[in-house]
Amino acid sequence: PFYKTMFGLSDLEERIRAHFGLKGVTIVPGDSDTSPYAKRELGRAGSAALRKVMGKDDVVAVTGGSTLAHLANQLMTQTPLKGNWFVPARGGLGESLDYQANTIASTMAKRTGAQYRLLHVPDHLSDEAYMSLMQEPNIREIVEVIRSARIVLHGIGDAMVMARRRRVDESVINAMEAEKALAEAFGYYFDRNGAVVHKMSTAGLRLEDIMETEVVIAIAGGRSKGEAIAAVMRFGHDDMLVTDEAAALEIAAIM
Ligand code: G3H
Repeated sequence: PFYKTMFGLSDLEERIRAHFGLKGVTIVPGDSDTSPYAKRELGRAGSAALRKVMGKDDVVAVTGGSTLAHLANQLMTQTPLKGNWFVPARGGLGESLDYQANTIASTMAKRTGAQYRLLHVPDHLSDEAYMSLMQEPNIREIVEVIRSARIVLHGIGDAMVMARRRRVDESVINAMEAEKALAEAFGYYFDRNGAVVHKMSTAGLRLEDIMETEVVIAIAGGRSKGEAIAAVMRFGHDDMLVTDEAAALEIAAIM
């Protein structure tokens, strides 16, 4: 489109794509930190990217957050995606209802005529609780569906913003700060090089699942998230990035 050439965004897309070895990068104009319009456009571009990769009988695992909520509310399809399933990538992460992965998966399914399954399990579990929950046949079954997802769609956040929003224990926050946690994605925390500095047992997608997922799409924008996005791209398991101009300029400045 015209605006992309005008602002040179397609050059920036290609530079970021090549630098991180991604299959595709989409940049929308503006800064979603300050512009509700840019955030909406980001959601719209994310839903277009998702529709492009979805096939007939796919399982799509989605994370939570306000960006994913925008995307979900704009997801549209001309023919119902009957054979597809939307599932949450992880259990409850202490987010408010609108931002929970369960809510987002069900919104997406309802808007597209797809199916959904929910995971009613908190994410912060002791090892003992985790082991016993995983003995429950119902939970085991949905967890297996989640781990078999062909497509993962996830947000990216600043580590400390996300840890506080999710009311992570102060002692864990301190430990993460000491390890220089910078970014958060799918419940894991990363330092600036994309090394994982904090993880927990989870009834949901684990890092090893994400490493094997066929299509991983990240959607995140806003100047404040530039460094966090670059950190998760360095982790190196995303295929596509949908972001905005302000974040993209920050990313380009540190790559
Ligand atoms: O994993 C990251 C967060 O879900 C991002 O949340 O879209 O509200 O910034 P946000």
